[in-house]
Amino acid sequence: MNHYFSEKPEIKSEKKTIKYTIQNKKFEFITDNGVFSKSKVDFGTDLMLNEFLKKNKGLEAKKIKILDIGCGYGVVSVILKSFYPEISITLSDVNERALELSEENLKKYGINDYHIIKSDAFEKITEKFDVILSNPPIRAGKDIIFKIYSEAYEHLNENGEFYCVIQTKHGAKSTQKKLMEIFKNCDTVTIDGGYRIFLSKK
Ligand SMILES: C[S@@+](CC[C@H](N)C(=O)[O-])C[C@H]1O[C@@H](n2cnc3c(N)ncnc32)[C@H](O)[C@@H]1O
Repeated sequence: MNHYFSEKPEIKSEKKTIKYTIQNKKFEFITDNGVFSKSKVDFGTDLMLNEFLKKNKGLEAKKIKILDIGCGYGVVSVILKSFYPEISITLSDVNERALELSEENLKKYGINDYHIIKSDAFEKITEKFDVILSNPPIRAGKDIIFKIYSEAYEHLNENGEFYCVIQTKHGAKSTQKKLMEIFKNCDTVTIDGGYRIFLSKK
């Protein structure tokens, strides 16, 4: 079966370039068949990025460590590294095509200082981070996304932050409940267009 979260998507490659604008900055991403949201940057991802940028105006000069888990074609990392050049960024995904596209997109923007790891959830991730962002792979099932939430907690430094986006109709309530259980806090940063952005702090 060919899902966007296959390790090696079988569907024929057909790369294309999509345009994306955030906070008046224009970007282009190379995408392909077999990766998530190949035709346009996902509404939820865009919402999460906008909220993150609004809440983190002073981050430009800070050398914090960020993990982009389930990176897809790398939109979160390219945007964050473009707005905050000092951050250290790690990307991971199970989908090899997504990882290759992420590297292409990072290089397209002259970003060479990143770590990229093929990993099923946190299996191959040993470091800890200050911020972890996730647009979780809902279609992979609740077991996987709940595993990502609880392992995110383990991979955060003290006071670290976990951001995630989820469609209200795709189980926002159960995500909120799970995050409350794990982190003992879960702030609803915003609700827009049927999506919710949650922020939990360690
Ligand atoms: C909803 S997409 C988000 C992609 C990208 N962050 C974005 O916002 O466009 C979820 C991503 O998680 C990846 N994924 C699925 N199962 C995974 C797993 N077990 N471990 C890590 N990543 C996984 C998928 O391949 C996909 O790229």
